[in-house]
Amino acid sequence: MTSDPRPIGVFDSGIGGLSVLQALQKELPHERFVYLADNAHAPYGEKSETFIRERTHAIADYLLAQHHIKALVVACNTATAAAIHELRARHPALALVGLEPALKPALGLSHTRHIGVMATRGTVASDKFARLLASVQSEAHFEVQACNGLALAIEQSTLPDQAEAAQAQIAHLLQTYTQAMGCFGSAPGDIDTLVLGCTHYVFVENDLRQLLGPDVQLVSTGEPVARQTQRLLAAAGLLNPGKTNGAAQPMRLLTTGDLQGLRAAAQRWLGLPPEVCEAVPAALQGA
Ligand code: DGL
Repeated sequence: MTSDPRPIGVFDSGIGGLSVLQALQKELPHERFVYLADNAHAPYGEKSETFIRERTHAIADYLLAQHHIKALVVACNTATAAAIHELRARHPALALVGLEPALKPALGLSHTRHIGVMATRGTVASDKFARLLASVQSEAHFEVQACNGLALAIEQSTLPDQAEAAQAQIAHLLQTYTQAMGCFGSAPGDIDTLVLGCTHYVFVENDLRQLLGPDVQLVSTGEPVARQTQRLLAAAGLLNPGKTNGAAQPMRLLTTGDLQGLRAAAQRWLGLPPEVCEAVPAALQGA
């Protein structure tokens, strides 16, 4: 078997992709990961496609040139929708994995055939999402909700001086957006399955469960994406099957923005020590 010790790059507009990183690390414990959070420019969901494409290309170029990544996981539904086609065209030799809201897996879970979808405005407005929705629309009824402000509030909830206000904002937005989608539950006509179409939303899963009750299934993409990455690397002979004696490989977490925020998120959600987090060079921080 061939072995490739180069790291896998993972990126998101901010801390949301940490939910995908967690699944990747579990699925691929022998691999090294370099995670880049573009916190300085989060949220992407309410910015133009042109801006998101520029950031995505700058980040991919940086991870290739400075960290010699062998694969890139775009752990952001919004950036995938805006930029994955261009990325594939620009880097035909790079193993590339994108994310899309889990509408198809949700079909396999819903009994009422009434499915809610929460995602950013950018994802919901994209052509890629329109095509995805069109491909499943005959099989169930989908309530699609653009959740302006939610990813930002989740970002802010990791900053000690903003955490309390951000938590209140999260509670308010979740209440507003779920109410706008309709009635949740398991009775006929109820929404029984909710797709978390933004990687940030995984971190408010508990709040959603409290709000919606135990009968509603929440569907995210971290685990399927981790399995897909594993298959892609295996097929391309890019896995690193090296011995780690059970210990996880070291990882690096980089941010274009607030280092304290990334440190707090990495500690809170992944149990990682602060020293794995660092700031990227200034050249990548600008818009
Ligand atoms: N976490 C991202 C996603 O999956 C983007 C959130 C944002 O920056 O608006 O869509």
